[in-house]
Amino acid sequence: MTSKLFTPLQIGPIEVPNRIAISPMCMYSADDGSATDFHIQHLCRFGMSGAGLAVMEATGVDQTGRISPGCLGLYSDDNEKALTRVVASAKKYNMPGFKLGIQISHAGRKASTPYPWDRAGAALTPENGAWQTFAPSAIPFGNDVPAPKELTDAEIRGIIAAFAESAKRAVRAGLDLIELHAAHGYLIHQFQSPLSNTRNDEWGGSADKRLRFPLAVAQAVRAATSGTVALGARINSTDFAEGGLGVEDCVRFASELKACGFDYVCVSSGNIVPGGRPALGPGFNVERAAHVKKEAGIVTRTVGYIAGPKHAEEIIASGAVDQVALARAFLDDSNWGWHAAEVLGANVPPPPQYQRIKAGAWPAAKESRAMA
Ligand SMILES: Cc1cc2nc3c(=O)[nH]c(=O)nc-3n(C[C@H](O)[C@H](O)[C@H](O)COP(=O)(O)O)c2cc1C
Repeated sequence: MTSKLFTPLQIGPIEVPNRIAISPMCMYSADDGSATDFHIQHLCRFGMSGAGLAVMEATGVDQTGRISPGCLGLYSDDNEKALTRVVASAKKYNMPGFKLGIQISHAGRKASTPYPWDRAGAALTPENGAWQTFAPSAIPFGNDVPAPKELTDAEIRGIIAAFAESAKRAVRAGLDLIELHAAHGYLIHQFQSPLSNTRNDEWGGSADKRLRFPLAVAQAVRAATSGTVALGARINSTDFAEGGLGVEDCVRFASELKACGFDYVCVSSGNIVPGGRPALGPGFNVERAAHVKKEAGIVTRTVGYIAGPKHAEEIIASGAVDQVALARAFLDDSNWGWHAAEVLGANVPPPPQYQRIKAGAWPAAKESRAMA
């Protein structure tokens, strides 16, 4: 069998060696937005994991746009310096062809949340560092959190400029790919969804107007980057909520992103309003992502409960999407890439330093991997 999962993929100006991406995951371990030694050790594992690409976590384009006080930011020279150090370390011992990207984001009304392991309630308190949140409309994310302040036109333009500035910083820091976080109920998605945007100025109202902010951000980021990095966006294929966005809105957004010069989309879903998600099974976004790929004709990745190598292989081999992203599977097993290659008969050896654990070279390999 020739594995399709382990074939290279061109994403705009970059080539990734296989179709496996490590999905962005907040690690809540930054210091005023600056990446720390934690990020070095975390990303070094991913660089040697056998995945073709890892995308660093949601990174606030301004201080108020961080999800929690421990989230990464890219709004200051200190943040840029710290990120540059981390990227250089993380890229030093990668497997051949590995690429590293970053997701830039503004959390809007979902900012100012506690560390997940401290989450007694839904909101930070002023005593432990809460800040005023901002959103298209002054509608809180559920009843337990303070209402955001409605953004003024000038503030909206300021955030668009902040996205462009962060993108420039990401390029200077040496990243290969920049992804806008336009899903999961964060600011860009808050503008797109009628559930969170009830404005009646140029930034809200019709579907066209609700897409203005997302596309203005995309255009600003495109203009701020040189064409040497791949550009993409994580977008929602459904809000899982009555009156919310559906897959055709996603097709439209993906097509417009392509017209802006974006290279790919990552199709996800949910989280614009609290709760309300149906029970989700393996590969729960694949079908909608396949529809987006077909209709919008853009390189498409999907994510969500993909953990088995054979499942990942089936998704790629079927042609449904071009790339799969895995999040929790790589936290669980940061060697997922080589282990998958072994299952699928692909030639992706572990890094040379680790080659004595290759199946065949170490009789206990099978027992160890099955945790016998
Ligand atoms: C610890 C953790 C942090 C996450 N942080 C982000 C993030 O920063 N940006 C994002 O788009 N998704 C984030 N997600 C969602 C994942 O990227 C992914 O979409 C989701 O976990 C479903 O994929 P999985 O079933 O492979 O875990 C996070 C998920 C986890 C488990």
